[in-house]
Amino acid sequence: MKHRVAILISGRGSNMMSIVAAAGDAYQVALVASDKPDAAGLAWAKARGLPTWALSPKGIGKPAFEAALDAALREAGVGTIALAGYMRLLSDDFVARWRGRIINIHPSLLPKYKGLDTHARAIAAGDSHGGCSVHVVTEELDGGAVLGQTEVPIEPGDTAETLAARVLVAEHRLYPRVLAEFVAQTS
Ligand code: GRF
Repeated sequence: MKHRVAILISGRGSNMMSIVAAAGDAYQVALVASDKPDAAGLAWAKARGLPTWALSPKGIGKPAFEAALDAALREAGVGTIALAGYMRLLSDDFVARWRGRIINIHPSLLPKYKGLDTHARAIAAGDSHGGCSVHVVTEELDGGAVLGQTEVPIEPGDTAETLAARVLVAEHRLYPRVLAEFVAQTS
């Protein structure tokens, strides 16, 4: 049986699309889940006939939201959770329940530039390269073991936007490859 992957998104979902496009022998996408019922990526997944789940934590609180998310993931028989532009912090409790089975893509060369505004920070620091990293999710923000990385050159005149666009192309290649390797090791 193929390894069942859930993808968690909050927005446009371009990394989710690359993971869906690369699904094959290595894994299948068992659920696309979102904390934003109106996320553009969710509409795309629905239109493709993928199983989707969405709930806003607003009004119900984080514990109830995460309990519902956990139930949906277990019902879908998920083995690995891939965060792809999921903009909410998972609680320590949730991370512990799925320990070693959640991965994330972050748009920097970790351990540099954890958190937000990674491209602007790399340019401001005068770095020659930015990039992206896929890492295991732990309780520490963007702090788990790095599973794969791609370096992307910073060109003269780059803005955070132009660099983000160049890095995003690299993200779309890196994430499905690292995910496939990861599930092969954890299946
Ligand atoms: C990506 O740059 C990813 O690295 C970061 O958020 C962005 C999500 O973009 N975590 P998308 O929703 O996958 O298009």
